[in-house]
Amino acid sequence: MKKTLTKKLINKIHNIDSRNILTVLQNNLKVRSTVTSPPYFDMKDYGSENQIGFGQNYEEYLNDLQKIFEDIYKITEDDGSLWIVIDSFKRDHQVVTLPFDLANKLRETNWLLQDIIIWKKDKTVPWSKNGFVQRKFEYILFFTKSKNFIYNKDNVRTFDTNQLKKWWVKYPERYNPKGKALDEIWEFPIPVQGSWGDQYIRHFCPLPQEMVSQMIELSTNENDIILDPFAGSGSVMFQSAVMKRNYIGFELNKEFIKMFNNYLEKTFNKARKEYELLDNLNSQNEFESRILDLRILKYAKLLVRDLDKQNIGYFKILTNKKGKGESKNKLIKAEYMLIGEFEDENIHQKISELVIKPPFSKFGIDPQFTFQKSKNFSKNELFGYIKSNSYSYQKDIDLDSATIRIVSNICVDLNENDYL
Ligand SMILES: C[S@@+](CC[C@H](N)C(=O)[O-])C[C@H]1O[C@@H](n2cnc3c(N)ncnc32)[C@H](O)[C@@H]1O
Repeated sequence: MKKTLTKKLINKIHNIDSRNILTVLQNNLKVRSTVTSPPYFDMKDYGSENQIGFGQNYEEYLNDLQKIFEDIYKITEDDGSLWIVIDSFKRDHQVVTLPFDLANKLRETNWLLQDIIIWKKDKTVPWSKNGFVQRKFEYILFFTKSKNFIYNKDNVRTFDTNQLKKWWVKYPERYNPKGKALDEIWEFPIPVQGSWGDQYIRHFCPLPQEMVSQMIELSTNENDIILDPFAGSGSVMFQSAVMKRNYIGFELNKEFIKMFNNYLEKTFNKARKEYELLDNLNSQNEFESRILDLRILKYAKLLVRDLDKQNIGYFKILTNKKGKGESKNKLIKAEYMLIGEFEDENIHQKISELVIKPPFSKFGIDPQFTFQKSKNFSKNELFGYIKSNSYSYQKDIDLDSATIRIVSNICVDLNENDYL
């Protein structure tokens, strides 16, 4: 019974005032995340009676929003969240701090404000007036229902090396192998004519699909329910559908709903195909493996540097990857075979003392040390590195040559100047 009722309610935009959300949704289902952008007070007439914002005074407007988000709190999963895209504006020659006024109103309900994110756009909304400076950003308020909430931060890391600063080549130990974490400034251009169709752009300022996608990825999983109480063009609803989530929207203007349904029908299949083709996981795994390779080689390079300082005699290190590590601090196992005629009996001890301290202890490597007097490299598929460079192997050189200090089956050939 409950299942069929839920089915009737989800995956549509209801032409109902969002002040009545609970009459439609109470006890029927739980929402994982709400992603929305309410009217920015009375800045725009969305063409329907009883709309929130236009025609109201500021107090009425804020109280209505407070009540709606209080209701949404009740139908949100315990680990659920709420994203609100909102902006300040000018009235009577001064700034009205709407994002903060709204955040304070929500504090009176039980929502917990986790983050204030800056959405950096390259264009301003049409009605915004410049003050002394050009306006380039809006606010994203991120609230959660409780202190334990879904936040899939690894799913939204940057691992495209073309977008990272060149330091990842020389300092792989400073980069999370899953990629660079999100920061609090998000750069997404506002959609231009063409992407949602000209008619759409004239009516609204749809949110950028990539930005909505990031919020959905962070705070929900497939099959979850996503709510937008001010659906507008339906950009949140559309992206939810594409990303295999369920959606529920509320929108007063019937025309907008009609346009959304047409848009969905025309573009859904193509967008879903593109979503399925995105092979993020594979690229992320490649990045992880690359960072760990660089770390293993740099670890060997630092060992050479530090042991040379202790005058233990000439040696090479043969290093190979040995598989995944067993804890958060030991991400990868690696073998380090020290090849040389060591006179020092305490070499073992010296190495143990070195590697429990930084920088070695920061590499996430579980090292296994072995010692050998000599080794013949010629038959294997191996790559040689010099003492000053562990990120680009030496070409056309005999691995037995004295300048080669690190030998490995790991092949990296990077040039930091190829990156930002
Ligand atoms: C800023 S727009 C939403 C834009 C939307 N995020 C998008 O990407 O297109 C706000 C929307 O809220 C709708 N709205 C205003 N008052 C409402 C109410 N009481 N119930 C439901 N929708 C309402 C307006 O018609 C308008 O479409």
